[in-house]
Amino acid sequence: MEEEAILSYLENREEIADSGQFASERGLDHDKVVNVIKSLHGYRYIDAQDIKRETWVLTEEGHTYAVAGSPEMQLFLAIPPEGISREELQKKLDPTIFKIGSSQAAKNKWLDMGKHISRKVQHAEDRVKNVLIEIKDGKAPEAEDVKALKTRKLIAPLIWKGYSVRKGPNYAPKRKKVATDLTRENMQRGDWKDLEFKEYNFCAKGQPAEGGHLHPLLKERVRQQLKMIFLQMGFEEMPTNNFVESSFWNFDALFQPQQHPARDSHDTFFLQAPSTTKQLPEDYVERVKEIHESGGYGSRGYAYEWKRDEANKNLLRTHTTAVSSRMLYLLAQNSFLPKRYFSIDRVFRNEAVDRTHLAEFHQIEGLVCDRGLTLGDLIGVLHDFFSRLGMENLRFKPAYNPYTEPSMEIFSYHEGFKKWVEIGNSGIFRPEMLRPMGLPEDVRVIAWGLSLERPTMILYGIDNIRDLFGHKVDLGLIKRNPICRLGVK
Ligand code: PHE
Repeated sequence: MEEEAILSYLENREEIADSGQFASERGLDHDKVVNVIKSLHGYRYIDAQDIKRETWVLTEEGHTYAVAGSPEMQLFLAIPPEGISREELQKKLDPTIFKIGSSQAAKNKWLDMGKHISRKVQHAEDRVKNVLIEIKDGKAPEAEDVKALKTRKLIAPLIWKGYSVRKGPNYAPKRKKVATDLTRENMQRGDWKDLEFKEYNFCAKGQPAEGGHLHPLLKERVRQQLKMIFLQMGFEEMPTNNFVESSFWNFDALFQPQQHPARDSHDTFFLQAPSTTKQLPEDYVERVKEIHESGGYGSRGYAYEWKRDEANKNLLRTHTTAVSSRMLYLLAQNSFLPKRYFSIDRVFRNEAVDRTHLAEFHQIEGLVCDRGLTLGDLIGVLHDFFSRLGMENLRFKPAYNPYTEPSMEIFSYHEGFKKWVEIGNSGIFRPEMLRPMGLPEDVRVIAWGLSLERPTMILYGIDNIRDLFGHKVDLGLIKRNPICRLGVK
């Protein structure tokens, strides 16, 4: 509509002198007219020249007077023909209206002001209101009015921008649609010869390039750096490439009784197919059964009937300690060598998902096996390990795991949260676990485990685990977040 108006106007006229006037005469929206002018100018249908003008707009106070009348007029109208006492009049009016109105009305010589106020003139004209309405309707006010209204802060200046417009070198009464692409159809039909093509804009920024983004759990300084820390401390990585594990390695080998609540389907994902494991080392299975049922090596055992069927059940491993039990068993099959092992991989728990829990997450586990290790060695190695993650300040709290004794939860003081945060679990593996495997009597295994998500969340300042991992991951966050370094505060 605006485009047609401009192009057809120019068809047999020299210029549009003022886009503002042009728009208001035709009832067009000036902003829209300006947009069309800019676009037509870009394609050189027209030449446009800026014009700037100072205009006036009503202030909020100005707007109220344009509707309700000026204070002086409101006051004038409130005075009955016989006059009124000052107190009476004051009661009838808003205090500001009374104040401004009385001084302006006196200036206009409309009133006799005293204790008794009466009209001096029969009629008064509300020039202030009338001029305000005119300004509101876009009429240019007279200099004298501008001065008066400006001092009364009823109007404020506004820089108005518009254009004067003439025909340009590509002028046509109607815009030709330019082609942006040369299509196969254009070639086949041969109409490409008559097409006018839009010029290339070599300055356009183009589509932002999309690249892949590393997930925080994979980023250099979290998982990779943890690996480096273990390697620097002389640890070997254990093979963790089996998410599916038998209950035997996940629980029974760890001296976890078969009635333990963690072995319930409410806590563990059991497999439907294949539902059971095919192979277990039979002589070792016998020794595990024995230790559960009647004990040995100085232990009384649990005194219950151990069931092979329960041990055969396949599950998604609930902790990486399942990997550790396999490794220690393997280690025991040869003549003993001290070892340091670690793993970082995924585990699964049938858990109600909330802001700190997921049904699958990652565990970091470290263990040292050697002759004659003590709780002091465990505490020492934990200090060494966690200080490399930037956690210097540790505390330990007695805990319980079926496979460790003693067991300790690990806490670290978080400077940001100003409190002690639980960061891991640890202990010395029980003889009930190690001896049936065939490890020598004086061999002790100290071990600890923690989640990979916890330190990552702390490092990246993420407070909802679902933003970090799983199907609700915030992809924007993965793209934006920087590489964080462990141990750098
Ligand atoms: N397996 C334990 C857990 O899942 C962690 C742990 C590992 C505890 C090794 C002690 C020793 O929380």
